[in-house]
Amino acid sequence: MCGIVGYVGHQAALPVVVEALRRMEYRGYDSSGVAVLDGAGATRVEKKEGKLANLEAALDAAGRGSFAGTTGIGHTRWATHGRPSDRNAHPHVSGEVAIVHNGIIENFAPLRHELEAAGVDLVSDTDSEVAAHLLARAMDDGPTAGDFVASCRAVLNRLEGAFTLVFSHADHPDTLVAARRSTPLVLGVGEDEMFLGSDVAAFIDHTRDAVELGQDTVVVMRADGYEITDFAGEPAEGRPFRIDWDLEAAEKGGYDFFMLKEIAEQPDAVADTLLGHFHDGRIVLDEQRISDQELRDVDKVFIVACGSAYHSGLVAKYAIEHWTRLPCEVEIASEFRYRDPVLDRSTLVVAISQSGETADTLEAVRHAKSQKARVLAVCNTNGSQIPRESDAVLYTHAGPEIGVASTKAYLAQITANYLVGLALAQARGTKYPDEVASEFRQLEKMPELIQRVVDSLEPVRAIARELADSKSVLFLGRHVGYPTALEGALKLKELAYMHAEGFPAGELKHGPIALIEDGLPVFVVMPPIEGRGVLHSKLVSNIQEIKARGARTIVIAEEGDDVVRPLSDYFIPIPTSTTLLQPLLATIPYQAFAAEVAAARGYDVDKPRNLAKSVTVE
Ligand code: AGP
Ligand code: GLU
Repeated sequence: MCGIVGYVGHQAALPVVVEALRRMEYRGYDSSGVAVLDGAGATRVEKKEGKLANLEAALDAAGRGSFAGTTGIGHTRWATHGRPSDRNAHPHVSGEVAIVHNGIIENFAPLRHELEAAGVDLVSDTDSEVAAHLLARAMDDGPTAGDFVASCRAVLNRLEGAFTLVFSHADHPDTLVAARRSTPLVLGVGEDEMFLGSDVAAFIDHTRDAVELGQDTVVVMRADGYEITDFAGEPAEGRPFRIDWDLEAAEKGGYDFFMLKEIAEQPDAVADTLLGHFHDGRIVLDEQRISDQELRDVDKVFIVACGSAYHSGLVAKYAIEHWTRLPCEVEIASEFRYRDPVLDRSTLVVAISQSGETADTLEAVRHAKSQKARVLAVCNTNGSQIPRESDAVLYTHAGPEIGVASTKAYLAQITANYLVGLALAQARGTKYPDEVASEFRQLEKMPELIQRVVDSLEPVRAIARELADSKSVLFLGRHVGYPTALEGALKLKELAYMHAEGFPAGELKHGPIALIEDGLPVFVVMPPIEGRGVLHSKLVSNIQEIKARGARTIVIAEEGDDVVRPLSDYFIPIPTSTTLLQPLLATIPYQAFAAEVAAARGYDVDKPRNLAKSVTVE
């Protein structure tokens, strides 16, 4: 979810807002826009797809002088609903109203239908636009007519989902109203001027006095002050603080690296990916241009992806086969089309890609389409090439991932893959509706458990510093613990340039156990004790085998696992979850471990050598 800016003060708003958007470019975006209120009942709006330079060129062409006024709002968009385009860019306008929105309005569809039924002409494909029209209608008619602040609150109380919104009204040029639910918003307090930003980078040049806004709060902002309430209008508190970060630190939210910030964002990435996908007891996918009948006709699933996305597919395989009883093959995209796979109209190919531009995966999609298979993309980047060429898409909502090493996008991919599995099981009747609902409810509990893991990573970092000089590390797991082991090894390779290898633990005795030598660090991820019981006891045996040969065992296991704790040289507890959902927890220590080893070695955690965030060449 991208960047939001607001300004009310004594300066010309346009340059303040544009500079603030520039300060937030690092967050990644696909379009941008501004609105300036001239104080005489007019609002000037300009918005463009693509980079900020496109917006600036449009402002120059329009004549920046025509954007006169000391109140303005701005937006950098990371599209979730509606492709990147000029008309889908923000601000969205309705009469005298202009709004910018970060996040997802989960109930936008019924609100759109209500507005269309009332004769409102919606001009974009976004979820956000409904907020502009609802405010304009609340201002024109009804119990809050004419009352800008009350009308904003009335609108907010109709919205569901995760959102940060800034509302403006041309007849109230001295006031901006902003609201935050689950997505970031911070207030900057200046001298006779006030700022709003998704993070302090937006206004750090103007003031270092900030106020953190809490969940479900509304701030009414004028040049000479602000008022914070809850959505019902009752007084609420913000948290004033002094910004002592420099700009670079501000961009990273105070973390040393974007990757560390993105590890911390994983609870929201999973929660936001789930938003809007369960209605009236049923799983609903995004633009599901594959009917339930077509899903019923599927007789085989292929998952194609690269790197971490491939690992997320391996995790999904266990769930998809268990829930749907369909054979599910997971293929490295660059191998897929060269092995002449058996595909036909009854094959569903799931293409997983954070960037949506990975050439190997895109070519796999094209091959699948040429064989008449149906393709569903799981993607984090709206409007990118892979979803464009697929029959259907399920977007992850991890937001822009700046660090080259995938973290929050990976957990969001696992989450989305599970939604695909549940949608297949639901369409095919291999799971009853109450079972589908129960699995979804289990998924909904994961953000809270992920937060607990994210909050307890310091011991993992200490282990990483202790083992930072190791020459090699092995990773073992069984069942979904095996792809988790592969992902752990990949993180260590790509971040710390250290030899690392993941194995199915059962394979040890077929060769890899020869690698075990005195002091060799070996990670083992244990399944829940109450999960697939036989898996747990087999892994206990594997740990004993490697300990007997001198390995240093670093065991990730549920916090109550007193069987394996005594066998662990290092024990990393995680909350109890189900067998299938455990990768959403067990992967996080691997991310933190690899980042800490890389940092200890003095490497750039965000930009590892030789790697690109999106591999657009084969
Ligand atoms: C993961 O940490 C890597 N950055 C890389 O393996 C990545 O997952 C792979 O290149 C696939 O990228 P995509 O998801 O954008 O297609
Ligand atoms: N959901 C909104 C859209 O797709 C806002 C996305 C964002 O956070 O930038 O336009």
